[in-house]
Amino acid sequence: MKKIAVFASGNGSNFQVIAEQFPVEFVFSDHRDAYVLKRAEQLSVPSYAFELREFDSKTAYEEAVAALLAEHQIDLVCLAGYMKIVGPTLLAAYEGRIINIHPAYLPEFPGAHGIEDAWQAGAAESGVTVHWVDSGVDTGKVIKQVRVPRLAADTLERFEERIHAAEYQLYPAVLESLGVEKR
Ligand code: GAR
Repeated sequence: MKKIAVFASGNGSNFQVIAEQFPVEFVFSDHRDAYVLKRAEQLSVPSYAFELREFDSKTAYEEAVAALLAEHQIDLVCLAGYMKIVGPTLLAAYEGRIINIHPAYLPEFPGAHGIEDAWQAGAAESGVTVHWVDSGVDTGKVIKQVRVPRLAADTLERFEERIHAAEYQLYPAVLESLGVEKR
């Protein structure tokens, strides 16, 4: 059975959708006060949190993260709103075993504000992408992506909601396609 860990920096709604359908070994957050940690507690999923600033370097931080993954024998790391660039230390240990969800149709609108950027650009459609993580920012090989149109009646808020709804469908579908067993 493939063991997964989910990494999230804030809200954790994607984590929750995943954890309700798949056994999650643990959730990791790079923010000790992230809401995702409360969700984990409610769902009885073990969690870990530590912050980059608590370490001397990003290398030391990522060594601690990699140690956690090794200790739990994690097969697949699922980034879900983990707002840090994965650095060389973690990549060296786990490249090919880290996936990420991005709220746009890559390579369109990469970066930290995919939804707002598509909205501001007036794009007729955007989407959601799950991709393998490499050393670039949202550049890794696409696993699966779906289009989400911008509707005439959309506000940014409604557009955002529909993007998130698409995420909640796409991430579980990708996990299943990668052979992660449901609970
Ligand atoms: C999600 O929309 C995810 O795609 C996005 O952060 C949000 C996290 O929401 N990630 C990125 O923008 C990565 N570039 P959540 O914490 O409620 O799952």
